[in-house]
Amino acid sequence: MEFGRTHQAFRERWAGTDDDLCRYSMSLDLHNTLRQEFFASYLFILEQIPLVKLYAATCANVKGQKQFYYRAQNFYKDVPASEEGMMGEFVELSELDLEGSRQFLKKFVGPGKASTNRALDCGCGIGRVSKGVLLPVFQTLEMLDMMENFILHAHKYYLGDLADRVETYYVYNLQDFTPPPQRYDVIWMQWVAYTLDEDAFLRRARGGLGPSGVIVLKDNTARQGCRLDTVDSSVLRHLDVLTSIIERAGLTVLDVQKQDAFPESIVPVWMIAMR
Ligand SMILES: C[S@@+](CC[C@H](N)C(=O)[O-])C[C@H]1O[C@@H](n2cnc3c(N)ncnc32)[C@H](O)[C@@H]1O
Repeated sequence: MEFGRTHQAFRERWAGTDDDLCRYSMSLDLHNTLRQEFFASYLFILEQIPLVKLYAATCANVKGQKQFYYRAQNFYKDVPASEEGMMGEFVELSELDLEGSRQFLKKFVGPGKASTNRALDCGCGIGRVSKGVLLPVFQTLEMLDMMENFILHAHKYYLGDLADRVETYYVYNLQDFTPPPQRYDVIWMQWVAYTLDEDAFLRRARGGLGPSGVIVLKDNTARQGCRLDTVDSSVLRHLDVLTSIIERAGLTVLDVQKQDAFPESIVPVWMIAMR
């Protein structure tokens, strides 16, 4: 109907011009309107579903599970329980990464800030961050990963005596996990938020924070927009997209900092603190 009225308006405006010109004007108008409508709809979807659910790519079911998560589980079955497995080809950056995280964490814990009783390491893998960043600071730690073999490796070998201070190991999918209420001073999520296709976990994590508690998310980010990797089901998101997701989950961003000294050739890695 809208286009009918537009057409009529054009006809009146162009009365006396030939039919071809009128048709041309109509198609140009239709083209512009469609283009505007299309982008308005696209922006609306991005607004409403800021995690870019990429429905067709992520929501098909395989063996009772979302294809998106099924693919990630298959991918991690072949990943060795080692630092190389956790860091891929960037294992030589591990110490730089841990040092960047230690410095960032310092800003949020200690007197007048979050206390150092208990942290949760989400997507902990073999415990690289647990060992290098969290256990030196927190009295007790809880660790969560969907891959049982990573958790077993952490407990039996990687953490050594530090494993005595791990209160609970959760072999759990983050998308199904609800942190116990007000339990953690810090919830750390490193290289795992990019495996989630929705913001529900962030909303639930908020309820798991104790007084002055913070969630720290450290992740690879896209230089522009969002990019889905169909091999390991990770979604790289631009920092602006990530922060808008965080705000939509009802959290406030406290600080953002780019990981220093990583090579320019790899995607930017950002740390975001929120509560
Ligand atoms: C790239 S590794 C990073 C491990 C660790 N955070 C680190 O920085 O060394 C990603 C980890 O997240 C885990 N993971 C991926 N998707 C997950 C999910 N949906 N729920 C729980 N763990 C998940 C994987 O099993 C893997 O251990």
